[in-house]
Amino acid sequence: MKTSEKAVSGRPRVALVTGAAQGLGQGFATRLAKDKFHVIALDRVACVDTLAAIEAAGGKATDLCVDLSDPKAISDGVAKTLSHFGAVDVLVNNAGLIPNVEFEKIDLAQWRALMAVNLEAPFLLCQSVIPTMKSNGYGRIINVASNTVGLKIAGFVHYVASKGGLIGMTRALASEYGGFGITANAVAPGLTRTHGMMDPARRGPGGVTTDQEIAHMKTLQAIPRGGEVDDLVGAVSFLASDDSAFITGQTLVVDGGLWRI
Ligand SMILES: NC(=O)c1ccc[n+]([C@@H]2O[C@H](COP(=O)([O-])OP(=O)(O)OC[C@H]3O[C@@H](n4cnc5c(N)ncnc54)[C@H](O)[C@@H]3O)[C@@H](O)[C@H]2O)c1
Repeated sequence: MKTSEKAVSGRPRVALVTGAAQGLGQGFATRLAKDKFHVIALDRVACVDTLAAIEAAGGKATDLCVDLSDPKAISDGVAKTLSHFGAVDVLVNNAGLIPNVEFEKIDLAQWRALMAVNLEAPFLLCQSVIPTMKSNGYGRIINVASNTVGLKIAGFVHYVASKGGLIGMTRALASEYGGFGITANAVAPGLTRTHGMMDPARRGPGGVTTDQEIAHMKTLQAIPRGGEVDDLVGAVSFLASDDSAFITGQTLVVDGGLWRI
């Protein structure tokens, strides 16, 4: 019997995915449900489409409405989940804000609002679920970073700082909890076609549209095409699985071969 089977005997394996209402989070939640996890789909809005897709595929999920910029809402949401399900076996810190702002125009309030969602919420969520993972001797933490940490890119100083912090936190958590059956890894997507990124109001560096950005990135990547949500879900599925038990502290870059580490 594998460690995870011992840890979860008599209850469903539980995966909590943040930012699960759309985009990458929706893809991760749907894939983990197919992998037989009971998915806790956390978002500030109801995860209506995600839950419908999971249920249509015969999977199981629970909606958890939490604003990740509110620490009390995070601790209440996790407490509710733990008391109902007994554990969170897999935590996918996916939710993130991706604004493009010239560095000299970022004010402190914007900086803090971004850090609250992109870095502080993953910190608080890890802290809330790790005690149970420790006592179960099993856990998978997957933090969604970004390939922008390794690229020349304009207008993302606060964003890149948050994602670099997330990669650093992942590495440090891996050291701290490797002896408890808990792994911590990051996934770093490249530019990926999601709801958030395709919002017509969104503009990338220098005011370009996302379509223009994708066209440019294609010329730089080893695999010359735009990234889709389906390109990312296998990486998260693998890092959430028993097969990744000896992999921790790593950053898996999924960007068509642009950033190589
Ligand atoms: N799409 C890309 O090109 C790309 C590239 C690199 C990294 N990423 C990272 O992947 C992750 C997902 O990106 P996406 O493109 O799917 O984004 P998206 O905007 O499509 O979805 C983000 C989700 O997070 C939720 N969210 C935002 N703030 C929240 C809050 N305060 N509380 C709860 N939920 C909140 C939103 O409601 C939304 O459902 C982000 O961390 C992003 O930085 C994306």
